[in-house]
Amino acid sequence: MALIEFRDVKKAFGPKVVYRGLNLEVERGEALTVIGGSGQGKSVMIKMLVGLLSVDAGTISFDGQVISGLDERGFARVRRRIGLLFQGGALFDSLTVGENVAFGLRELGERDETVIRERVEESLGYVGLEGSSELWPASLSGGMKKRVGLARAIAVRPEVLLYDEPTTGLDPVNIARITDLIQHLQRTLDVTSIVVTHDMPSAFRISDRIAMIHGGGIIFSGTPRELASAEDPRVRDFVHGNVPENEDPSAVMESGA
Ligand SMILES: Nc1ncnc2c1ncn2[C@@H]1O[C@H](COP(=O)(O)OP(=O)(O)OP(=O)(O)O)[C@@H](O)[C@H]1O
Ligand SMILES: [Mg+2]
Repeated sequence: MALIEFRDVKKAFGPKVVYRGLNLEVERGEALTVIGGSGQGKSVMIKMLVGLLSVDAGTISFDGQVISGLDERGFARVRRRIGLLFQGGALFDSLTVGENVAFGLRELGERDETVIRERVEESLGYVGLEGSSELWPASLSGGMKKRVGLARAIAVRPEVLLYDEPTTGLDPVNIARITDLIQHLQRTLDVTSIVVTHDMPSAFRISDRIAMIHGGGIIFSGTPRELASAEDPRVRDFVHGNVPENEDPSAVMESGA
């Protein structure tokens, strides 16, 4: 049985239809990458999975239980099992690096300061930032902030790690570093990972499977090798960064992409 399953999920914001019918299964232990153009609904998918947005129709299941439609308390239980790296990192600037990483543990009710300190150091160690717990987020580079965000996500020892655009806005060295780190965590922590990205080189490196969202649903799902030889022009254009034929160039400017 799949660990996570989206079945016929529909979602719209007023007249703007994001999902007409999202069907996707994620197996336990798998590293799945979700690709798709800006505004196609990648972040919405992640937010529905953790209950930050509701579904209009259809169901989302986690570990055999339907979770879409749960109340806030029900979702709090689900979120304990899922680590989330937000688009942009989303650190608390008024807390030190260490307190940022400890945040989830405290929320879960951990009170033993020794346990918290050890877990914070261990998590910072995983991302190559041991000894930085006294630093302030404002003093960190973009790449370091992402790594602290990742340390915060793994500090609660989640079964699932969700990454929303983990490499966007980073220089090539930091992109490689974060990509390696995702791969390393996948192996050492024995987690299920869902990575949302437009970054094709890292998608090819880290994924067991890649799914592409377009026009309200999944239009492709397969191994990196299958993606590289996909025939669907919408998939090929995305993978190779081509401007689709018959697209009006001025439309690109309007969408801000
Ligand atoms: N809370 C919201 N209220 C209204 N519209 C929303 C909301 N969240 C997302 N949308 C709309 O839903 C669509 C999908 O948004 P989403 O953020 O999931 O795109 P994305 O694929 O993550 O794009 P990007 O690659 O730019 O991050 C967009 O048209 C967006 O404007
Ligand atoms: Mg997004």
